[in-house]
Amino acid sequence: MNPLDLARARPGTPFTLTFDERRIEALPGQTVAAALWSAGITSWRTTRDEGRPRGVFCGIGVCFDCLVTVDGRPNQRACLVPAESGAEIRTQEGTGHDG
Ligand code: FES
Repeated sequence: MNPLDLARARPGTPFTLTFDERRIEALPGQTVAAALWSAGITSWRTTRDEGRPRGVFCGIGVCFDCLVTVDGRPNQRACLVPAESGAEIRTQEGTGHDG
């Protein structure tokens, strides 16, 4: 059974955003992390030293593992930032700053 069915949720109209230029669908009220997970995407950052993949760890804004670039702003916590229509989400490499 779908989790939305389990909770008897009635989300609003889906909208789209992009992740690394791939269009994905999100629901009102979802965070960026939830939207990415719903699309089957589980990592969206690489570590500074070894380039290892990272995504959600704590899911509550504490660990900073889920950092992502949102509309050109690096270091946004995907587990806290609300998904918005037309947002451009990008994988964050290292610190998210060039150089
Ligand atoms: S998953 Fe820990 S801060 Fe987002």
